[in-house]
Amino acid sequence: MRRSRGRQILALVAALTVVGTPTALVAGAADGAAASADPCAAWMDPSDSAARRADALVAAMTQDQKLHMLTFGDPPWFAYWGTAGHVDGIPELCIPDLVLSDAGSGVAGLQIATTVFPSGVAQAATWDRGLQRRIGSTIGAEAFAKGINVMLGPGMNIARTPYNGRNFEYFGEDPYLASRTAVSVIEGIQSHPVLADAKHYAFNNQETDRMTVDVRVDERTRREIYLPAFEAAVKKADVGSVMCSYNRVGGTYACENPELLTGYLRDDWGFDGFVVSDWGAVHSTAPSARAGLDLEMHAFAAGVPATPVTGSAGRYFGADQLQAAVDDGQLRQARIDGMVRNIVRPMFEHGLFDDPVSPGAEPFLSDVSTPEHLAVARRAAADATVMLKNRDRLLPLRPVEGGRTIAVIGWAANPVGAANAVSGGGSSHGSGLPPRVVSPLEGITSAALERGDRVVYVEGSNVVDARAAAAAADVVVVVATDGSSEGTDRADLGLRPAACLTVFCQAIPIEQEDMIAAATAANPDTVVVLDVGAPVRMPWLPDAGAVLVPWYGGLQHGNALADVLYGVREPGGRLPQTFPVDEAQHPFKPEEYPGVGGKESYDEGLLVGYRWYDATGTRPLFPFGYGLGYTTFGFRDLAVRPTAGGARVSFVVRNTGRRTGAVVPQLYLSAPKRAGEPPRQLKGFTKLTLKPGESRRVSLALDRRAFSVWSTRRDRWVVVPGTYGVAVGTSSRDLVLRGRLAR
Ligand code: NOJ
Repeated sequence: MRRSRGRQILALVAALTVVGTPTALVAGAADGAAASADPCAAWMDPSDSAARRADALVAAMTQDQKLHMLTFGDPPWFAYWGTAGHVDGIPELCIPDLVLSDAGSGVAGLQIATTVFPSGVAQAATWDRGLQRRIGSTIGAEAFAKGINVMLGPGMNIARTPYNGRNFEYFGEDPYLASRTAVSVIEGIQSHPVLADAKHYAFNNQETDRMTVDVRVDERTRREIYLPAFEAAVKKADVGSVMCSYNRVGGTYACENPELLTGYLRDDWGFDGFVVSDWGAVHSTAPSARAGLDLEMHAFAAGVPATPVTGSAGRYFGADQLQAAVDDGQLRQARIDGMVRNIVRPMFEHGLFDDPVSPGAEPFLSDVSTPEHLAVARRAAADATVMLKNRDRLLPLRPVEGGRTIAVIGWAANPVGAANAVSGGGSSHGSGLPPRVVSPLEGITSAALERGDRVVYVEGSNVVDARAAAAAADVVVVVATDGSSEGTDRADLGLRPAACLTVFCQAIPIEQEDMIAAATAANPDTVVVLDVGAPVRMPWLPDAGAVLVPWYGGLQHGNALADVLYGVREPGGRLPQTFPVDEAQHPFKPEEYPGVGGKESYDEGLLVGYRWYDATGTRPLFPFGYGLGYTTFGFRDLAVRPTAGGARVSFVVRNTGRRTGAVVPQLYLSAPKRAGEPPRQLKGFTKLTLKPGESRRVSLALDRRAFSVWSTRRDRWVVVPGTYGVAVGTSSRDLVLRGRLAR
């Protein structure tokens, strides 16, 4: 992938871009580098280290050129080829354009003709690192083909509450699962000359008051719950950029917070890429630059007033403001140089200079969603689908003599509804344009026709019709959706009456809970399909025959659903988030959410998600890690051996059923009591596929960190000596093998 396409093309592209290169820059380059035959020779040798190339480039830049690199070009958000923003390149220095696009479920925003993949929570639900990497690399390939070289994802904030409107973009409630998923997706994206972006850093776990809320989190909880995914993104995946979030942390905005942007990120984790602001999250010039912000971005042109929707008034990193801060002695010149170096160093390392993008009409209009990419999306959608119930093996549907009648019910099942339910709302929404979402109705109908089954459809707005259609059918598939979206939190655990066709959401024309209740009451062989971004309550559960959660399934949702219903593929997903029984179960203090006096205190500390359910002995509706497949597994022969730094845990898994199937063995550790940790925590998992009767020994390594807690007093990770409980099983509540280990 690292073909160099030559600098002539780059110069041509720069000449063709919508926004021309400012003349001042051309003049600056002429001053600085015109004398040499090849002005870029000192930093364009790909065999040199990225650090050396970055140093050479920064040394050759004029002050104007440096300042140009630190803020967004006009036009901003979505007006530049549907992207989220850009910084114009400097052709005479061979600096390519930096073109940034949303987001985690594919090349989205106002992009067209790209593949929309299942959303972030669905990617985590696959528990499949190879597949996550494949999703990432497919997104990276499409981004590059679209003239984009920074993908603004993945998002990796922890699902602290089920109410966060953006949980669908993130990787669930557990720091280990979120870390693993983030690393895989980032590795995939960055296998192309495209940088990934770890966002939203940090503690941006609610949408209510997101522009202002001041989050208070104790140090240990920060380190153990909310920061590990970012830490892994930096240390294990070498992520090129990190996006600081809108909110305040401990009284200071995240984008001017030295503890976040320099302390953890650079001093502790060794980050050597750039920090980009969320769009409109900057509130100052010198304090932000000193704290560690490198690049300011904004959705709107400078001067648009600050509001809860637009963010700050911007622009704070304009050349004039930054130069004034240097002249006033508020900012050192070395910091300006460092900011530029932070931006160009990962660009060198990940091939952005050697293989520059070419934004413009041609890539914008080109269709980059190939059949291979759609096949990845289809497989991902099935492998992310979590089956929560399957009474008497209703699924998979087996061939029936003379065919069967399937009633498909629900607005979300038809092409219009499904186009809304393809992904959540906000900047990450995949447009699905030109229209090519395969709806559940289309996917099921074509699969049914091949098998001699018949499909009838009712929209579900009339409960009497829904009941009649369900009663008359052999099998019912009722599809409902909710409209999780950036910008708002969910009011409750109901199926919200909205879905998101664009960045905005629209009302759903039907009362979906009544529709499901009518269908499940009328026909016990009803499969309930929930296209949701986060947990929902299920008052109709006892009557349902089967329940599937495909999350927001992307373009291939309908085909993948048909694959799962007919058993072409298994429902391969396991829950990355606990499903509460109802709104009375909440692992946080409801009187404090979403904040008191502008502050949100994370008083529950480490007890997030299943950690709270386990510590309080509360039984959720469905536990973290849970999900059924089409076969059964047995576990035996647990062996736990200490290793130099940690331990090796192995056990035998056997497919005890009659179908080939996938299993996700999960390893939870219980620290000695005096460590003061939650009762058990995920520290290892894998996913493997076994034939009927096949056994395999699985071996999972635990490193030193698995046995460590954050000591605030000693300001470092410490291993707590004592006896650790080891538990292995198929969910956080179904742990069939237990052992011990002394440390
Ligand atoms: C604001 C969102 O919070 C962020 O996730 C996104 O990348 C930017 N807008 C750009 O669209």
